[in-house]
Amino acid sequence: MCIFAYLNYHVPRTRREILEVLIKGLHRLEYRGYDSAGVGIDGGNAKEWETNSKNIHLIKQTGKVKALDEEIHRQQDVDLDVEFDVHLGIAHTRWATHGVPSPVNSHPQRSDKNNEFIVIHNGIITNYKDLKKFLESKGYEFESETDTETIAKLVKYMYDNRESDAITFATLVEQVTQQLEGAFALVFKSVHYPGEAVGSRRGGPLLIGVRSDHKLSTDHIPILYRSCDGFKQNSAVIEHTNRVIFLEDDDIAAVRDGRLSIHRIKRTAGDHPARAIQTLQMELQQIMKGNFSSFMQKEIFEQPESVVNTMRGRVNFENNTVILGGLKDHIKEIQRCRRLIMIACGTSYHAGVATRQVLEELTELPVMVELASDFLDRNTPVFRDDVCFFISQSGETADSLLALRYCKERGALTVGITNTVGSSISRETDCGVHINAGPEIGVASTKAYTSQFVALIMFALLMCDDRISVQPRRREIIQGLKVLPDLIKEVLSLDEEIQKLAAELYQQKSVLIMGRGYHYATCLEGALKIKEITYMHSEGILAGELKHGPLALVDKLMPCQNALQQVVARQGRPIVICDKEDYETIKNSSRTIKVPHSVDCLQGILSVIPLQLLSFHLAVLRGYDVDCPRNLAKSVTVE
Ligand code: G6P
Repeated sequence: MCIFAYLNYHVPRTRREILEVLIKGLHRLEYRGYDSAGVGIDGGNAKEWETNSKNIHLIKQTGKVKALDEEIHRQQDVDLDVEFDVHLGIAHTRWATHGVPSPVNSHPQRSDKNNEFIVIHNGIITNYKDLKKFLESKGYEFESETDTETIAKLVKYMYDNRESDAITFATLVEQVTQQLEGAFALVFKSVHYPGEAVGSRRGGPLLIGVRSDHKLSTDHIPILYRSCDGFKQNSAVIEHTNRVIFLEDDDIAAVRDGRLSIHRIKRTAGDHPARAIQTLQMELQQIMKGNFSSFMQKEIFEQPESVVNTMRGRVNFENNTVILGGLKDHIKEIQRCRRLIMIACGTSYHAGVATRQVLEELTELPVMVELASDFLDRNTPVFRDDVCFFISQSGETADSLLALRYCKERGALTVGITNTVGSSISRETDCGVHINAGPEIGVASTKAYTSQFVALIMFALLMCDDRISVQPRRREIIQGLKVLPDLIKEVLSLDEEIQKLAAELYQQKSVLIMGRGYHYATCLEGALKIKEITYMHSEGILAGELKHGPLALVDKLMPCQNALQQVVARQGRPIVICDKEDYETIKNSSRTIKVPHSVDCLQGILSVIPLQLLSFHLAVLRGYDVDCPRNLAKSVTVE
């Protein structure tokens, strides 16, 4: 699921310090969801690293990183005080796909009982069965059920059958990746190449963090430096350095004698001859919980600022204009298209549902909103004059990424709406908008949803900026956006009231959420939040459909939100989230959560927040880990 490696070069570190860095790195990646974890380090107790490196030690454990840390401290034969002048440690959190969560299925996976080669892997190898059959025919014995183990065995096979002893670790890995199909980010370690690290990627992100006490001789690699730390995932790297290199697909990055070099398997026209060292803009404090009990809670409360960040420099409230730099060169083409298709998964899909109506209104185009996996399953017809949007917080969701490639192949213009600069979706689309919500750590998406919502509204406004007839409507929406942050603050002030409501509801089995029109998406998203983190049954229902089936579920025990009379008539207990100026509804309902009034198409931003808060409080009361719900991952990089 997530990989993290740490290499210190001529910077003495004790084994204790190295393990602390690795464990901390894994902690920073925990939010992405996993069910087991492991580390691979040099073994042995002698002082010289040359000797130690002849022996690699693996420690793996099912469950949380904390359990792995405890396992490390239980190891009798591991001397934590040994110092290494040069050392590579690799670490991994696994989200089970091939084989149950267990120590043997956890990573690092190894080539053999002597741990000659070990590897950590994020992604899926689709041709692993063929590779495994081949390797078994050569006498290699497998111990795990994972696809990854074939990579560890394959690298040993390449080594065992090497033509010359001078073969480098990078060349070996290059030979291995040429045989692999599927998606991967990998880091290798070997007793045959002590103090060396090799990583590669295809279809999954991998970045290298660089830290040196000495000024680097260049901002482009190959670079010479004294120490380097190699990592994946911005949030794990940021406490060590903000200087990073994003690898491209099929790059092989190798650190040898403290020197980083990048090799490519194939030379293709248009390849950039170097990889630039970039500076990450992320602050450590952005990934810390601060005074909040969980990241999800922090992120819910960040929404007054995150929506401002989405609009910053883009919406001019004085002259009612919208500029989206990332779409500037393509907007004319988009205006001429025949159809808009919004493709996404999970919460991001709901952002498409939420804005579909206003997009149809302001663009006067047919708008389809599609779940990426279903869109692919259906082989949906896509044409050159379609514009396809890919909405994704992470920008790495496998289903969305595959749908993107599918649409590109058919000649459609592709637009990314993502929160992650440098992500696969933002790089592979023709153009797009970064929602700038800041890092979202809680698995249940909150602030990314409201920012995606705002980004799509901005796009709708941009599409009709020269149509005279819609100017009053545009102004109304833009002025609505202006006051949105204050209105969100007002909704957040209902927190205590919602906490009390949660206390009344948390032992219920099921929550139905009903609404229509602009609020249908709120219902779907609210129900998803409740399912994700409270494990209660919850359904978002289009109110008009209630009488066609779901009404049978309503009895006096059933708490409901919205969609009133039919529910009341069946002794349901409706809780109504409504505009505080909707006096009629308020008068007729016993239980209401009153949110401020906004423009119709923005009201969904305000009405979803009480449901975010409700799901959060329900999960806390039910005793669950809000940020890391069971079975779920923050970014699903597998199909
Ligand atoms: C996972 C997450 C969801 C998220 C979905 C789409 O399932 O648990 O919270 O909505 O992926 O993710 P994306 O990064 O593409 O928005």
